[in-house]
Amino acid sequence: MDGTNAALAGRGIGDQLPEVLHGRPGAVLLVHVGDGTVLFANPLAEQLAPGVTLPCPVDEWSRRAGLESSAGDDITDPANDASPLSRIAHGEPVHGERVTAARSSDMSGVREALWVVGLPLSDASADQLHGLALVVLLPLREEGMVRDAQESAEQLHSRAVLASDLSFTISDPNLPDNPLVWINPAFEKVTGYGKDVVGQNCRFLQGPDTDVEAVRRIRKALREGDTITELLLNYRKDGTAFWNEVVISPVKDSTGRVTHFVGVQSDVTLRVQAERERDAALAVARDARRRLEFLSGVTDKLSEVLDPLAAQDLLPSLVVPDFAEWAFATLLDATGRTRHIRASHSDPARASDAARFQELHAALGDNSLSMQVLRGEVGPSLVTVEDDHVDAVTRTEEIAQVLRRLGLGSAVVVPLRARGQVTGSLTLLSGPDRPPFTEDDLATATDLGARAGVALENARLYAQQRTSSETLQRSLLTDPRDAPGLSIATRYLPAAEAAQVGGDWYDAFTQPDGSSVVVIGDVMGHDVSAAAAMGQVRTLVRALAYDRAAEPAEVVGRLDGLLAGLGMTTLATAVVLQVVAGDDDDRHVRWCTAGHLPPVVVDPDGSVRVLEGDGIVLGLGPGQVRTQHESTLPVGSVLLLYTDGLVERRDRSMTDRLGELREVARDLGGLGVHDLCDALLARMLPEGSDDDVAIVALRVEPR
Ligand SMILES: Cc1cc2nc3c(=O)[nH]c(=O)nc-3n(C[C@H](O)[C@H](O)[C@H](O)COP(=O)(O)O)c2cc1C
Repeated sequence: MDGTNAALAGRGIGDQLPEVLHGRPGAVLLVHVGDGTVLFANPLAEQLAPGVTLPCPVDEWSRRAGLESSAGDDITDPANDASPLSRIAHGEPVHGERVTAARSSDMSGVREALWVVGLPLSDASADQLHGLALVVLLPLREEGMVRDAQESAEQLHSRAVLASDLSFTISDPNLPDNPLVWINPAFEKVTGYGKDVVGQNCRFLQGPDTDVEAVRRIRKALREGDTITELLLNYRKDGTAFWNEVVISPVKDSTGRVTHFVGVQSDVTLRVQAERERDAALAVARDARRRLEFLSGVTDKLSEVLDPLAAQDLLPSLVVPDFAEWAFATLLDATGRTRHIRASHSDPARASDAARFQELHAALGDNSLSMQVLRGEVGPSLVTVEDDHVDAVTRTEEIAQVLRRLGLGSAVVVPLRARGQVTGSLTLLSGPDRPPFTEDDLATATDLGARAGVALENARLYAQQRTSSETLQRSLLTDPRDAPGLSIATRYLPAAEAAQVGGDWYDAFTQPDGSSVVVIGDVMGHDVSAAAAMGQVRTLVRALAYDRAAEPAEVVGRLDGLLAGLGMTTLATAVVLQVVAGDDDDRHVRWCTAGHLPPVVVDPDGSVRVLEGDGIVLGLGPGQVRTQHESTLPVGSVLLLYTDGLVERRDRSMTDRLGELREVARDLGGLGVHDLCDALLARMLPEGSDDDVAIVALRVEPR
């Protein structure tokens, strides 16, 4: 295409004539100069002056076409011999003038602007053209009309000069091989070929990069006598290429026989080049946007997964098939050893090979690129994996075979990075059928490796924090001590999502006098420090309740003072309940509530009641009013203490949920305490909870 580039340096005439609608066929007439009659017309000229029978006088044809000069003069007025058509009929050349024609299809009176060129064919080689003039009426841009009307004579003159740059050709299809019989001087300006090409078919303009399909369409149109517009690469006499927008139109006589073809050539190289540059720029922008969308899509999906192994499993499947035929991710464990490999293939039929590859990953040699990138010895790499290369980087024949089945070809290997460390590697393979990866792909994959590395590291840190919070929480929540005549069960359920491990606690222990104390509470906050604070508050409650066999209101009141006195800023809710020691089967209970949800009692007859209380939360300083309430728990009754995670739900009111809890408690009241706890959690929280949950269930047994 060197010729094309050379042509780009020049200026095409098409760009100097912006008003003419290039590529749109014009009306073509062949006019007899002597008697001023139109002898031949092309289909567009027939449409412009409908119902005209040829031959017909030029004036008559102009009248039927409703032609007017730019100034609005009636061209057909015999007194107006300045009209371009009549001047042409008198043998004068007209290099370009603006006229308007009535649009027969348009009732609104809008007129069509046309550019008239009239060229005497006195120099034509073919005898039949002698004494004729070629008239071409080319469409002008509509928006040019207003401007044109105000154009100065000078501008009109300069345009007339430019119009002579339009290249016209006439061929005779009735001669062998449809040769050119006339060309105007502008043809030589555009193509470099002069009159010596008359007598040849115009295909001499074509060359190695001319689109054969476009040529085929021209051939078909000419065969069928149709007008055609084609944009195709042509070659000048000096061998340079140019984009030619050629319009070829058949000219017919009165019987409808095609007597000639008229071709109008325009060099539109600059326009094509501009369009191509714009398209290329658009494609680059589209590509960049697509890559960004891809990157953020993968990162978003990875960030949603909080389990590090699940996130690693997901990574290769997110790049397949959009980015690679198959891919695998390798992660390092804390000791720097390969933890495991996850592979994903775009062809489901290769799933078992991908699975086998995962199992055999240890057989991938240390010298393989993936391992080198993993060890941080090599940065992001773009390579071609040849068949014979496979044996060199694999330890067993089986893994080599599996690799070959999964597909070799182009490969991109990038590190997964987090906090400046290589934590893994991601390998993408094109397989044999896809185009090889590009430098752009490598850049995208490198970016992806950085983002994915951070997402995977976040998942790992999250899991680590969650595990440590949960471990701490559980270690602080010791199992309840047996109490005489009471069965007690407890449950702690960490939040289903996010690091919502928190400060919920329960406790059950026996005071020196044999009374049992059951506690439920919730220290505000959802992190390791909330769990630690919970541990302290729980211990304080134990110490206070055990030391002096204190009653609940005293325990809670002294706790207010202790928290303030020890400078603990903890806020917490709690219910401290004491099952008083005694010989009766039915038990006397006392409780004190500090801003906590009320315990629920299911009596042996199945009726449900709540143990209301009205104290405010703990941690607001000493001197709070701490009220103690009392009641009886009959033998067979069940007492339930719980934290808000059991009943709180974003889409339901607290009143509804407490009502639901009472119903569920009534249904489950007959179960043993352990089964009751499990069934209660399952019924109240079938999808788990956003918050952590602690519950205590206590049943009064006969002594
Ligand atoms: C009047 C006229 C003008 C033509 N101008 C061009 C031209 O500028 N560039 C070109 O590639 N082909 C041009 N052609 C088309 C070729 O001459 C020829 O018809 C085309 O290559 C299809 O025929 P072929 O398959 O026999 O070559 C023109 C044809 C005619 C009749």
